[in-house]
Amino acid sequence: MACCFISRVDGLMDSENASNPKAFYASAANAAEKINEFVAKGQFIRVVSHLDADGLTAASIMAKSLYRLDALFRIRIEKQLDEDLVEELVAEGVSPIIFNDLGSGDLDLLKRRLSSNDIVVLDHHQPLGDTFPTLTQVNPHYHGFNGAQEISGSGVAYTVAKELNASNADLASLAVVGALGDSQDRNPKRELRSLNQTIVADGVEAGCLSVENDLTFYGRETRPVHKALAYTTNPFLPGLSGEEDKCLGFLVNLGIKLQNGGRWRAVNDLNADEKQKIFSEIAKLLSSKRLPDTVALRLIGAVYTLIQEDRGTYLRDAREYASLLNACGRMDKAGLGVSIGFGDRERALEEVQDVFTAYKKTLAEYMNWITTTPNVIDEHKNIYLVNGRGTINENMLGTITTILISSNILAKDKPLIALTSAENDMLKISGRATSTNIEKKLNLGTIFQEASAEFGGTGGGHDAAAGAQLHQKFADEFVQRIDQLVGSSLNEKE
Ligand code: C5P
Ligand code: ZN
Repeated sequence: MACCFISRVDGLMDSENASNPKAFYASAANAAEKINEFVAKGQFIRVVSHLDADGLTAASIMAKSLYRLDALFRIRIEKQLDEDLVEELVAEGVSPIIFNDLGSGDLDLLKRRLSSNDIVVLDHHQPLGDTFPTLTQVNPHYHGFNGAQEISGSGVAYTVAKELNASNADLASLAVVGALGDSQDRNPKRELRSLNQTIVADGVEAGCLSVENDLTFYGRETRPVHKALAYTTNPFLPGLSGEEDKCLGFLVNLGIKLQNGGRWRAVNDLNADEKQKIFSEIAKLLSSKRLPDTVALRLIGAVYTLIQEDRGTYLRDAREYASLLNACGRMDKAGLGVSIGFGDRERALEEVQDVFTAYKKTLAEYMNWITTTPNVIDEHKNIYLVNGRGTINENMLGTITTILISSNILAKDKPLIALTSAENDMLKISGRATSTNIEKKLNLGTIFQEASAEFGGTGGGHDAAAGAQLHQKFADEFVQRIDQLVGSSLNEKE
């Protein structure tokens, strides 16, 4: 069955076709021109952005660029673009709307209800539906780029911002945070590539970003080294991952000084010799477990540092910054996330740390529940299913699904589908594919688009990460349909 791999929009290029950067940048310049027209006419601009780290950084980038233009604007952050949101926007009257990190998957809805407005969609999700005369869209998929890896929603917003004014290049580091928040570094070197790489280069040139090849332990700016090591699960380090006490012992045995003046040292406090020592010892440990050398090498990768942020804060390492913003979005503090990106510090920074602590506690509780409660994870023919109904908050489902797929809890041959109850008798579903599935060209985004439409819901996303919302009475049928579509896609490729 080839249903999941056909292009859905006239003129939409398959990502495997030759990419056309010129056309992509021309579309960004066109969107910038449109935004300049709104500003010149003194129009009130509504900005709608997505609540994950990529959406929040996109919102901050757009807010800063519009602020610098003295534009009249308001930002709202939403978990999805649906009929309810669109009705609210219709009720607010006619004025230009800029959608960031959402919109391309719902072109028909925009056309049907909002085409009397000037609409600018700056997105990287797979487009679905027809364009219309009042729509200006920038989306890498139209130009042969894969929006799951080559540029994110905040990257698209940044590209337009730079067309608005070259001095907006100082916002490049935010786009890097967004891209990492969307896991666009899913490659062995953990690098941002393609259009993302151009943004990285802008950030370095603007003096706001540095890139190094270094240990990628999670929490390199803020966590004590043994905790950062224990938190590292990709690659999984037998005897160390998840085992703080053993990591402490391991480092002490190596003679690594763990504290300095009573303060725990973080990975970024270690010198090159100490890092080398730790790396060599881990490599030895892995080879004693008969694991190939390539596993240890995965501990080294690109590290993106926001060099204008204070050392030891969550904002200095781009991956930690992304986690912090994700926490804001998921814990109902999206506004706080946008203001941090906009430049607020001090009180905002204190508040956000509390949000982050509460978020991590909630995630740990969910993970504990999933891994210790019988029958929460169910293996179907072609997928794993996690049923979080009655327990997992819908806003946390995507993050939980991401953590589960990158842990070593499940085999790598099947994607993971997770569901939970949402407001108004709805169901929220998240899907994540493994790199093995992606190599076989599985595309969860198109599968979710197709299956949710069959049950009157909305869905879409990227090849490796997709989401959907539909009425909960269709839960079983929807799961069956996804199982079937995944099966026919994976088997077709064998
Ligand atoms: O919500 P979740 O994190 O699982 O979403 C995964 C991806 O799918 C995100 O990029 C999200 O924007 C996208 N998505 C979508 N349409 C939906 C739900 C999610 O494009 N209805
Ligand atoms: Zn995104």
